Amino acid sequence: MPETKAIERRIVLANLDQPGYTPDIECYLKHGGYASLRKAAGMKPEEIVNEVKASQLRGRGGAGFACGVKWGFIRADEKKPIYLICNADESEPGTFKDRQIIDRDPHQLVEGMIISCFAVRAKLAYIYIRGEFAGGARILQKALDEARRNNFLGKNILGTDYSLEIYIHRGAGAYICGEETGLIESLEGKRAYPRIKPPYFPAVLGLYQCPTIVNNVETLCNAVHILRMGGAEYAKIGRPNNTGTRIVCVSGHVNKPGYYEIENGAWTLGQIVNDLAGGVRGGKKIKAIIPGGSSAKVLRMGEVIKLRQKQPDGSMAEKEMGILDIPYDFDNLQAAGTMSGSGAIIVMDETTDMVKAMNNINAFYAHESCGQCTPCREGSLWLQKITDRIVRGGGRASDPGLLINVADNIAGRTICAMGEATAWPVQSFVAKFRDEFEKACEKK
Ligand SMILES: Cc1cc2nc3c(=O)[nH]c(=O)nc-3n(C[C@H](O)[C@H](O)[C@H](O)COP(=O)(O)O)c2cc1C
Ligand code: SF4
Repeated sequence: MPETKAIERRIVLANLDQPGYTPDIECYLKHGGYASLRKAAGMKPEEIVNEVKASQLRGRGGAGFACGVKWGFIRADEKKPIYLICNADESEPGTFKDRQIIDRDPHQLVEGMIISCFAVRAKLAYIYIRGEFAGGARILQKALDEARRNNFLGKNILGTDYSLEIYIHRGAGAYICGEETGLIESLEGKRAYPRIKPPYFPAVLGLYQCPTIVNNVETLCNAVHILRMGGAEYAKIGRPNNTGTRIVCVSGHVNKPGYYEIENGAWTLGQIVNDLAGGVRGGKKIKAIIPGGSSAKVLRMGEVIKLRQKQPDGSMAEKEMGILDIPYDFDNLQAAGTMSGSGAIIVMDETTDMVKAMNNINAFYAHESCGQCTPCREGSLWLQKITDRIVRGGGRASDPGLLINVADNIAGRTICAMGEATAWPVQSFVAKFRDEFEKACEKK
């Protein structure tokens, strides 16, 4: 890892740096906008899918699934209608990147969506946008209207025989509407109850039981740059299986909270926090970092991470390091026992009361459980009740163990991954800060 200071590498956010940049189509066109779509119009859909496969782009919504592989699930001879949905729900606590693109560079998303729809042969697409983003929905609607007027959208796009419509659907503000199958249910006009996978993998049985590609805002924007550079060239950014850039959102006790676009794997967690986000406020020490949104397992300052890394000769070797030395990308965070998730880095300084922080997170998941499965519905509430009573001075000596027990009985026993999102923070907070939980239980 270089000793130099971390710097940003802006590709998706590049336009935002242009002086006087506005969300209008004229401005986007002036900065080279829709050139990738023109290129795509001269290609076959499968050629675009192959470029995205070659780019090794992984989804930026949380799970990090290979985008080209997902698109490849759509059969060329599919008889049913094919849909594409842009997931603009952005509901993972600590995440605030997609809204920047929507508000300030909406045409990049629109262009990325049109290219992606063409690649998977979708003739109808939706942007499922978080209800609170009312302003963003208006900006996007204007961008769609402008794109239609310029023949980038609608009938016979750029003189081809390909036609596409994109509609905006505003959510009503529920975390679970970000989960792709819950989102689809909501889009169909129902309560956002996630569906069981299998059989309901969206690419097979999605919207209206038809093949549906669901991708995050940032993922879809990357399609523009993959077409511009070519998949193989794009894959040179970052490192194998962790290519391209990543917009990380740094929040918590840092001097410069904000969103930063970095090359995947180029910088460590410590470099991002200290160089980009300006270090911890008031010169205090870091106590803990949640590296990928509130669902990700917490990292404790001082813990020793045993990271299995690929060596230049291709062999694997284990290296011991502190949490600040973990290179920030999908695979390294996973190897460190957590995840890069939605790219939201939450920094907690030495003054943080970890039990209170846990209680805050538990309250969120208890409130947001859709209630469909018992372990998540009941368990999330019990978790909150337990941390709540500890915080109020009514904790019992058995509570840390009880928290782990409840969390262990949620993870892996639910319909959707919100079970894990609820359990992982508890399992890691209690395991890594057990001393604090035990002490808090003694206080009356
Ligand atoms: C509880 C829960 C909430 C989620 N919220 C979001 C969200 O707000 N935005 C998002 O893009 N993905 C979210 N996801 C991930 C989506 O289910 C899905 O994996 C993603 O939209 C796929 O896009 P990608 O492959 O481009 O990442 C969530 C997943 C879960 C389990
Ligand atoms: S895990 Fe939770 S959010 Fe997901 S379906 Fe079950 S009850 Fe609903």
